[in-house]
Amino acid sequence: MVKAVVLGAAGGIGQPLSLLLKASPLIDELALYDVVNTPGVAADLSHISSVAKITGYLPKEDGLKNALTGANVVVIPAGIPRKPGMTRDDLFKVNAGIVKTLVQGIADFAPKAFVLVISNPVNSTVPIAAEVLKAAGVFDARRLFGVTTLDVVRAETFTQEYSGKKNASEATVPVIGGHSGETIVPLFSKVSPSFQIPADRYEDLVKRVQFGGDEVVKAKDGAGSATLSMAFAGFRFAEAVIKASQGEKGIVEPTFVHLNGVPGGDEIAKATGLDFFSTPVELGRNGVEKAINILDGVTEREQELLKACIDGLKGNIEKGVEFTKNPPK
Ligand code: 2OP
Repeated sequence: MVKAVVLGAAGGIGQPLSLLLKASPLIDELALYDVVNTPGVAADLSHISSVAKITGYLPKEDGLKNALTGANVVVIPAGIPRKPGMTRDDLFKVNAGIVKTLVQGIADFAPKAFVLVISNPVNSTVPIAAEVLKAAGVFDARRLFGVTTLDVVRAETFTQEYSGKKNASEATVPVIGGHSGETIVPLFSKVSPSFQIPADRYEDLVKRVQFGGDEVVKAKDGAGSATLSMAFAGFRFAEAVIKASQGEKGIVEPTFVHLNGVPGGDEIAKATGLDFFSTPVELGRNGVEKAINILDGVTEREQELLKACIDGLKGNIEKGVEFTKNPPK
């Protein structure tokens, strides 16, 4: 039995993500939670002839508790999206509090669930989630993930003409670091099966992966940020976590994790000086089975990209930790 929960299910990402989860044969029960409109979204999805039994909850009548009780996997896309000209960090003020409240609910009602954080800025909201879980005495680093899969999906798509894969996702293009601008580091030297990026295209491709989200924000012209591709990416990652929890072997995906507390993480924490970092992890029955260090043997240019990433991430991570330790009055 797998119970999945979407917190923020009526929003731009939440709705298509809930649709994909409803359609997945891996899920037996799907609970949707949001501050508005969840009963409607749940009623709509309930007509789909797939396996998952679906329920929708609002905050009233212990909605968060009822949604979360018995959950195996909780995905959090809740929060406000970017408008043109905003960075993900500009969302911090509103989304930090939302994530804190929701993760407190997870600590109380589903402390053993896998927690997948999509809400931006991921570089700060995942540290917030970790601190809330730690304070509640239920933190297990192997079960907390920042979803950075959209950066990987974009990297696969944008390099497709060089990988030559009809299905772009058949190429493995590692993207590490964080989930915002310069903290996103595609490692084109480590693609597999190996292919070459032409030298005169390299910088543009790096920028496109780092700032791909801005393309969508601009094109939507005030109507939000990536929702459909983010839902696809969130679903891909949720599916990977569920399959691995059921014993499927060899599933590796990059994700933003708390390094101390996941096997293999200490080595990466030492190399980067960071507590949180997105790196390919091997998933298993209990979440992260091994964080894989792919920092050795990167090119000189990738080293420069990593330096900028680490500088940016430090501040983002501190901001999240500080928010939980000294909440704004
Ligand atoms: C993006 O990368 C929404 O953060 C998301 O577009």
